[in-house]
Amino acid sequence: MTVPTSTDLQRYLDIATEAALAGGAMLQRYWGKLESIVEKGRPGDLVTEADKASEAAVLAVIRRHLPDQAVLAEESGQVIAQGETDSLLWAIDPLDGTTNYAHQYPFSAVSVGLLADGEPVVGVVYDAIHNDLFRAAKGLGATHNRQPMQVSQTARLADSLLVTGFAYDRRETPDNNYAEFCHLTHLTQGVRRGGSASMDLAYVACGRLDGYWERGLSPWDLAAGVVLVTEAGGQVTAYDQGPFDIFSGRILATNGVIHATLSHVLQQIKPFRDFEAIALTEATTP
Ligand code: IPD
Ligand code: CA
Ligand code: CA
Repeated sequence: MTVPTSTDLQRYLDIATEAALAGGAMLQRYWGKLESIVEKGRPGDLVTEADKASEAAVLAVIRRHLPDQAVLAEESGQVIAQGETDSLLWAIDPLDGTTNYAHQYPFSAVSVGLLADGEPVVGVVYDAIHNDLFRAAKGLGATHNRQPMQVSQTARLADSLLVTGFAYDRRETPDNNYAEFCHLTHLTQGVRRGGSASMDLAYVACGRLDGYWERGLSPWDLAAGVVLVTEAGGQVTAYDQGPFDIFSGRILATNGVIHATLSHVLQQIKPFRDFEAIALTEATTP
């Protein structure tokens, strides 16, 4: 087991920042200029040359500083294999919010996180379009554009602005989060669908949003953002307030104050099932 010291964590945070900024430079370069947008699996799951260029830039920085550390990156998979005794794993999403980015909807980020024995301990989320930088490391605090950041103090779910998302398997499973979205829209000031899990978490961390839940996520979506929220004073757990497991794909992250109430509501919601009633018929151009 490897327990990084605070000196290690500061160094990893600096490397993660350099990597996220390098990836972000690629997202700035390709913004509005994409030539290749392809579906890589399920409908709507896109990959572009910006995802690939950003990932190459992020990996180059990590390899240069830490050639032996294990890396899991969305577009390449396990690029540097994890050794038997190595408990550190970098989890990288080079463009979190590809659908937004491809439509030039400016809500996306490079997400660079580090796990120690599965626990997120370093996180950098960089919104390259707005040059908005969110950073945190375990025990070292959290910053937004290098200034300390904190979660909101909203105390009631009824006064909260939440965010969630819908995984690419949403048409294949009744556990698709549609019912949760409707119920919580009814009970709060609103529920946004950000389209970038790492940015959703960064916005909870800096207090623009009060809470976030989602299912069907991957470690690279969550690793960095989880550190931002916990270091900014928020709470991250499973839906039922049990321990957060990054490999479960499921997360409940809030300012801490509304956590128990939101968890309680989420556990009562039953999935909607009837989505076959309206068939999609696309209009044909005359
Ligand atoms: C997606 C975004 C989105 C979430 C999806 C993710 P991608 O990541 O984070 O908010 O709802 O589940 O897959 O594909 O844009 O990297
Ligand atoms: Ca993602
Ligand atoms: Ca991605």
